[in-house]
Amino acid sequence: MNWDYVIKNGTIVTPNEFYKATIYIKNGKIAAISDQPLEGTAKKETDATGQYVLPGLIDVHVHSRDPGPTYKEDFFTSTQAAAAGGITTIFDMPNTTPPTRDAASFHAQVKNLTPKAHVDFGLWGIALGPMNNANLAELHEAGVIGFKYFWGYAVNKNTFQLTYNYEPGMDDVLPPLSDGEVYEIFQNVAKTGNVLAIHGEDSSLIQTLTEQVKKSGRTDYEALLEGRPNLAEEVTVQMGTSFSRASGARLHVLHVTTAEGAEAIRHAQAQGAPVSAETCPHYLFLSNEDYPKVGPVMKIYPPVKYEKDKQALWQAINDGTITIVSSDHAPHTPEEKSGSLWKIPAGMPGTETIAPLMLNAVNEGKLTLQKLTALMAENPAKRFGIFPQKGSLDVGTDADITIVDMDKETVIKAADLHSKSKVTAYDGWKIKGVPVETIVRGETVMKNGEIVHGPSGQLVKPASR
Ligand code: NCD
Ligand code: ZN
Ligand code: ZN
Repeated sequence: MNWDYVIKNGTIVTPNEFYKATIYIKNGKIAAISDQPLEGTAKKETDATGQYVLPGLIDVHVHSRDPGPTYKEDFFTSTQAAAAGGITTIFDMPNTTPPTRDAASFHAQVKNLTPKAHVDFGLWGIALGPMNNANLAELHEAGVIGFKYFWGYAVNKNTFQLTYNYEPGMDDVLPPLSDGEVYEIFQNVAKTGNVLAIHGEDSSLIQTLTEQVKKSGRTDYEALLEGRPNLAEEVTVQMGTSFSRASGARLHVLHVTTAEGAEAIRHAQAQGAPVSAETCPHYLFLSNEDYPKVGPVMKIYPPVKYEKDKQALWQAINDGTITIVSSDHAPHTPEEKSGSLWKIPAGMPGTETIAPLMLNAVNEGKLTLQKLTALMAENPAKRFGIFPQKGSLDVGTDADITIVDMDKETVIKAADLHSKSKVTAYDGWKIKGVPVETIVRGETVMKNGEIVHGPSGQLVKPASR
């Protein structure tokens, strides 16, 4: 046999396995895995002695801003950032201008993004309520990875951009939907069988409490938290999980930030509701106590909460309540991220730093490498219907592979990020455990931090359409 690429002597890591072997790649697929040398010649070979070979990591929550505010980010740069950070597949969020809201905008988006993609990608469709309930079935047919409802946000009437700092009476703004209208989204998504992902913060609670605290003139981080408290997540997650149980819609709670949110999800799962959940590195590695050091960059919605929430989220990962870790890569420029806490947009880039931060946490004993492959490869692939094509190292599946060096040390530097918006809360953080090679369908896209191939990423669709 003539192999296209042979990765020798690495330690294979999946949620269930941990062993030394060589991987043989042919035509973009994993053709064989063996602990004995197989016959044949290799066009290309890597010696991964001392390194770990993981199923390609998946980031289910990325805002690439393309088309739309591409001065913040575009798909060329977001997918380079992903590849640089060891990610082989991203799911791109639909809050673009225009948003991915019907079959026509889905197909236009595939055409727009494919020539820029350095990694493979799934596309979220947006759920706008009465404005596109009628389009959810065609979006399902077209191949969306799931539907996203931005619960808690108002959106601009013309551009559909999120309104980060909503106040009643603002011009050109569509106010958040009523509970009944949200339930109708659940009913319609249930018919498609796709996952419905929610940003879970209660908008009317946030509005009232934010107005109260703003009146006091405070601009500190605790004031932001008083305006968007744990309660805002708790009540929306409770309602969302009840809506999921009643409608049958497969709910995915995005970026869980609180002990209360995690507990509500645990409760719903115990009752048999079809609910999954993710959290993000900023909720696992930061708390309100970091704000004095990090500053306004740390404004992310939902906001990073308290030390006790951070502990509760690790607990929820360990007991299986939270099964996915995503980045919520949400770039804004350094200029946009400085200024008054009430006025600046929420979000921060993260797809390049998520794997290094999680690998560092493995070295710190917070989780095992096998658990990491569950959280970042197998579980997302299974939940969104792309397993085992993605998220596995099974023979016959896509040769998406992330090679990591657990002894390698690095320092995260904002200036070195591949994103257009060179912003991170982790500037200067020392990391031990680094992705050293990103392989997408057999092609090495990143080697030792350098982008060496692409763009040749492709759309991935759920198998269960
Ligand atoms: C995201 C963005 O900017 O698109 N911002 C954020 O703070 N997380 C939107 C979102 O995920 O809520
Ligand atoms: Zn969100
Ligand atoms: Zn997001």
